[in-house]
Amino acid sequence: MAKTVLLTGGGRGLGRVTAEKLAVAGHRVLLTARTGIAAQTAVDQIHHGRSHLRVEPRAVDLSSLEQVRAFATAEAARGDAIDVLFHVAGIMQTSKTRRLTVDGYEETLAVNALAPFLLTALLRPALELAPAARVITVSSRLHLPDSRGAPVDFDFDDPQLQRGYNPDRAYKNSKLAVLWFTYELQRRLSGTSITANAICPGFVPTTAAASTTGPMRLLMSFVMPHMPFATSVADATDSFVFMALDPSIDGVGGAFYGERHPIESSPQSHDIQQARRFWRLADQLTGLT
Ligand SMILES: NC(=O)c1ccc[n+]([C@@H]2O[C@H](COP(=O)([O-])OP(=O)(O)OC[C@H]3O[C@@H](n4cnc5c(N)ncnc54)[C@H](OP(=O)(O)O)[C@@H]3O)[C@@H](O)[C@H]2O)c1
Repeated sequence: MAKTVLLTGGGRGLGRVTAEKLAVAGHRVLLTARTGIAAQTAVDQIHHGRSHLRVEPRAVDLSSLEQVRAFATAEAARGDAIDVLFHVAGIMQTSKTRRLTVDGYEETLAVNALAPFLLTALLRPALELAPAARVITVSSRLHLPDSRGAPVDFDFDDPQLQRGYNPDRAYKNSKLAVLWFTYELQRRLSGTSITANAICPGFVPTTAAASTTGPMRLLMSFVMPHMPFATSVADATDSFVFMALDPSIDGVGGAFYGERHPIESSPQSHDIQQARRFWRLADQLTGLT
């Protein structure tokens, strides 16, 4: 059965390749990118000589709540079912300086966690039209407390890192928040036909290189892809396709996958009180209710 998959981050990186694999497998892909030009370019590349593929461009800058709201409202108003909502887009800052969105929010939290929260809520009518819909978020093993770099440290009194900003911490905090969101969403979806799961694709230096500069970028692009701990773009996107389509995940919710099998996320990610606190925070920051 062909599915309709709405995928963010389709302009480049893992999202772009995943969109192509899904379209080649016969599914309808709504490919979103930050701009209309980026989305159309990706769609043209995928179509190249294969105009029968059903991939359609959509534009939404996920750092703008107004754009997310307008996009999701328009998409839901089409009245088409969405079988899979795949939140692939994400950022890891290169700048040591805290960057703010047009809404005045720390950009990493806004794009990686607040945008999926709002998009999912506003697209829920389209998800409810599908016989069994999947919401898939992309987290990272970097949210684990012992991961390299500045440790994860989500302070509800300073969720936007106004004090002591660090780009690594911003990324890790946002990926912890993604897990809180996903697990709490699954609890709230209990008894419905929609499930929510998260995935970490592994460490994919080829695409992660885009989030680095200088010698590190060269290392990530040309050396690290050959290391035994690296995951290839081909394998990572196979895992994304698995999350979107594999029948073994039918009815499964609230799980965290590493590649193609469930893995443990941090104990903190399973803290229901903190998950609910994050939900209230996201609700307030996005102005959802
Ligand atoms: N690569 C890894 O090792 C790794 C490991 C764990 C998790 N992940 C996660 O996997 C996902 C994909 O990563 P990737 O490696 O493919 O990264 P990537 O190549 O840097 O791609 C990121 C995507 O997110 C989009 N994006 C960023 N900000 C956006 C915004 N404001 N509005 C709309 N789109 C925006 C980018 O679009 P633009 O072209 O417009 O910037 C791009 O399409 C991310 O969520 C990442 O955190 C990656």
